[in-house]
Amino acid sequence: MADYDFDVLVIGSGPGGYVAAIRAAQLGLKTACAESRATLGGTCLNVGCIPSKALLHASELFEEAASGKLAKLGIKTPTVELDLDAMHAQRIDAVKGLTGGIEFLFKKNKVEWLKGHATFTGKDSVTVGDRTVRAKNIIIATGSSVTPLPGVEIDQKVVVDSTGALELPKVPEHLVVIGGGVIGLELGSVWRRVGAKVTVVEFLDQLLPGMDGEVRKEAGKLFKKQGMTLKLSTKVTGVQVNGDKATLTLEPSAGGAAETLEADAVLVSIGRRPNTSGLGLEAAGLSTNQRGQVEIDHDFRTSVPGIWAIGDVVPGPMLAHKAEDEGIAVAENIAGLTGIVNHDVIPSVVYTWPEIAGVGLTEEQAKERTEVKVGKFPMVANSRAKTNHEPDGWVKVIADAKSDRVLGVWMIASVAGTMIAQAAQAMEFGATSEDIAYTCHAHPTHSEAFKEAAMAVQGKPIHI
Ligand code: FAD
Ligand code: NAI
Repeated sequence: MADYDFDVLVIGSGPGGYVAAIRAAQLGLKTACAESRATLGGTCLNVGCIPSKALLHASELFEEAASGKLAKLGIKTPTVELDLDAMHAQRIDAVKGLTGGIEFLFKKNKVEWLKGHATFTGKDSVTVGDRTVRAKNIIIATGSSVTPLPGVEIDQKVVVDSTGALELPKVPEHLVVIGGGVIGLELGSVWRRVGAKVTVVEFLDQLLPGMDGEVRKEAGKLFKKQGMTLKLSTKVTGVQVNGDKATLTLEPSAGGAAETLEADAVLVSIGRRPNTSGLGLEAAGLSTNQRGQVEIDHDFRTSVPGIWAIGDVVPGPMLAHKAEDEGIAVAENIAGLTGIVNHDVIPSVVYTWPEIAGVGLTEEQAKERTEVKVGKFPMVANSRAKTNHEPDGWVKVIADAKSDRVLGVWMIASVAGTMIAQAAQAMEFGATSEDIAYTCHAHPTHSEAFKEAAMAVQGKPIHI
């Protein structure tokens, strides 16, 4: 190692960075991880996946009790009261436990945490606080942050981003969500369930861009049925804050007459952008593409030898599990092994109720490439979902018409986030719809709907 301080220096300790650091250390490489946040775990553990799921879980239970859903099962809850402070406390606890867990794993694996903001000073050197270190390999895993809406200032009181929306101290009477994507629908659901009126303003003509067309349409219907107001094909042209209220100006996306909307809270959730500012990429001889991302090859190498990049800062979906898998693969590549991520099989899940999940091609994408056969099975015909009073949604399997190989799976179901793993595994193994249709699935489970959707591709489902 001559005059290097480390074999591997990872910049950023999100799901990409911390996983890369642990795997590099497991492979015997002397590893450090620079993180400027006070706790490890990045966006996901601190202000993303974990705190949002803590609130989604708690608010779902609250709604079950408050809406009378539990009473229908014979569980009387005559007085249901929201204790928002306690709900926040369990969110904070969940974050504390998991971020502390990463610190423990760093110590266990002898990964050194360099506390502070990292800036490149050369191709193999980085300054973190008052320390400059040299590393043989540097992994950029700096993640992403909220995309601002031009002209709209986020004050984290009335106008909030996802971080502010996780911490609202009281339930807003009217929450307006700008952007009907994953964050808007998850956090919009949280606050609707505990009593807010929620309006979602979406620029496009459907929610959830990037997902299967039928899923997007069905999602719109379900969120409306749950009481959300959707303003599709609409853009926000201004937000005026007056004390603890805001007035939004809206216009049809294609142009036309403006209208105004009053709100107690406004959530800006129009996407996220890569974190590279203050990173000193130029000192390392690197630049970003037009979208601000660091470009990489199939092995996660940047254009500068010895510098690698993974996670939200590189092209591809901004998802924690994609970042984690890239973290393992990049560490294995650095160690001289063969680290691979199959980017064609990355599942995505929206953790609303019901959950919305997909993997592989949408029906539209599949049809553009080849001739397809599609099988669909409704959850209302699945015995377990029906018994649990969870009739909404369906499973759709898209297969190649000639080879029968599964090209994509989409589902809306209470436990779609768990069920989609089976679809991803089947696709990873190159399964045909017939393989799935002839695999024995336990009864009664929601997963049987996946088997029946595959049977529907064959034209022979049993229960519809
Ligand atoms: P990040 O997690 O963003 O971590 C990067 C880290 O690098 C940060 O801690 C940052 O402080 C640090 N850093 C940046 N620059 C420097 C520097 N120069 N020096 C030192 N440190 C630096 N994804 C899912 O798959 N499932 C979900 O349920 C989910 N829910 C989400 C909910 C919300 C509200 C949000 C905002 C995101 C959610 N995501 C979810 C997305 C997920 O959080 C990201 O895809 C994931 O965190 C990306 O991991 P990463 O390692 O690339 O970067
Ligand atoms: P997103 O890209 O999912 O959705 C943004 C939405 O805002 C889009 O529908 C877009 O059309 C709309 N939009 C853009 N500009 C607009 C404007 N001016 N007016 C109105 N609408 C506008 O981004 P989001 O929800 O901010 O999430 C960011 C990232 O975080 C996503 O890429 C997602 O992958 C990740 N994430 C993942 C979660 C999960 O896996 N469950 C949960 C939360 C976030």
